[in-house]
Amino acid sequence: MIKFVNNYLVPTASIGPPLLPGKYKSVNCSILSVNGLFSTFAPMSTRKLYIETYGCQMNVVDSEVVAAILQQHQYQLTEDIDEADLVLVNTCSIRDNAEQRVRARLRDFRKIKKQERPVSIGVIGCMAERLKEKLLEEESIVDLVVGPDAYRDLPALLQEVESGQKGINTILSLKETYGDIRPVRMDRNHVTSFVSIMRGCNNFCAYCVVPGTRGRERSRDPETIVREATDLFSKGYREVTLLGQNVNSYRWKEGGSLLKFEKLLERVADIDPAFRVRFATSHPKDMSDQLLKVIAQYPNLCRSIHLPVQSGSTTVLERMKRRYTREHYMERITAIRKQVPGASISTDIIAGFCGETEEEHQQTLSLMEWAEYDFAYMFKYSERPETHAAEKLEDDVPEAIKRRRLHEIIELQSRLSLKSKQQDVGQTFEVLVEGTSKKSEEQLYGRTSQNKVVVFPKNKLKPGDYTEVTISACTSATLIGS
Ligand code: SAH
Ligand code: SF4
Ligand code: F3S
Repeated sequence: MIKFVNNYLVPTASIGPPLLPGKYKSVNCSILSVNGLFSTFAPMSTRKLYIETYGCQMNVVDSEVVAAILQQHQYQLTEDIDEADLVLVNTCSIRDNAEQRVRARLRDFRKIKKQERPVSIGVIGCMAERLKEKLLEEESIVDLVVGPDAYRDLPALLQEVESGQKGINTILSLKETYGDIRPVRMDRNHVTSFVSIMRGCNNFCAYCVVPGTRGRERSRDPETIVREATDLFSKGYREVTLLGQNVNSYRWKEGGSLLKFEKLLERVADIDPAFRVRFATSHPKDMSDQLLKVIAQYPNLCRSIHLPVQSGSTTVLERMKRRYTREHYMERITAIRKQVPGASISTDIIAGFCGETEEEHQQTLSLMEWAEYDFAYMFKYSERPETHAAEKLEDDVPEAIKRRRLHEIIELQSRLSLKSKQQDVGQTFEVLVEGTSKKSEEQLYGRTSQNKVVVFPKNKLKPGDYTEVTISACTSATLIGS
């Protein structure tokens, strides 16, 4: 099974089934071959892989890539941890609490290790990259540590584990994009999916571990992106989200020509008018008018833009090394409102960054009021080792003040989210049906192009259908359609 926890790179629906995989077909074979060698570890038909995924959508896709690599080496997915031969935890390091959750989970896994049957436990992803050998030293139940660029080495590392050693590879790559690997899809709805278009990040925002855990930015071959998206559409998927830490800096050089993000987006949007396309995340310093122009031209490019601001204060943004000002950010929002009318805008905000004064915090609140965000992910600043902020700035906002400021930001956003939904009441939207509502079998849920979740009566609709829904009521999280 893949269990997805705390996805925040892309705003996700808060209703309906969680992002869990369906059952997977098992491959019947009696002998296990790993890298061409016969293993005596367990017969192949019992080789089961269980993956739990933490962190952002990039990790969700990476787990799908890992499942594809291991499927080639005779591992089949299971949703039942008790029957797994290999348990992988795909981890996140973005805030300290993300790592603490994984540590707690590893403590839970001790009981699995006590079973008679041998079970290998692997930590993969950003925490593996950040902590490297230290993880093996600190967590004795861990057999395998693999960083985000080393997943192709998993089968060989598993062989080492089977021979009684620990397996580790945390080498970052300047080239790896897993472009040729077709991920094993693990979403539950078979309607919406993600395609990674680039890896790594070169921005080095002062607070952020990602450039350290994911390495340098690199773009994926556009042919493989378009092929993967086309394949999704042909399998019945009706929405794809193109993923990267800063999609605006996507670039692919071939021959003498340069393909930028805008052009890639057009290519994916051209697959079919009934194929919705989203993307995340945009960096305010790089979001161009040309991109907005392309969105405006294509009805299937979703009217929803995630533009993380982090802080409304220019001085804080400077300390964060975000490389834009409050004024530049506001100018970008104005451009979105003008060029893509009706688009929803969401953001990420960090409360209590190093040296944040009360006045700087107030500027974040005033910017939120001004921007009227439809949705936001809001966090308390968490100092991360080896970042610029950890090394050069003081984490000096007292915990109680951080908490109070975050609370004020969340309160304000709930009001703005409710207002945003209330403005939709009485209007009609095209909704892509994703599944049956958690609360009632008679109700379906789906999303508008603006990425707002709508719950509405089933009629004869099924997941993957488009339908026009008139909004009759709302809560701060959900639109209710009639
Ligand atoms: N590449 C994306 C963000 C990826 S991380 C971008 O630049 O917008 C997702 C979010 O986590 C960030 O936008 C930020 O709001 C938050 N975040 C990152 N590091 C953090 C830290 N050290 N403490 C608290 N929040 C953090
Ligand atoms: Fe982190 Fe900044 Fe890169 Fe986003 S752009 S991943 S916040 S360093
Ligand atoms: Fe994503 Fe967390 Fe890594 S946000 S890139 S999984 S540190």
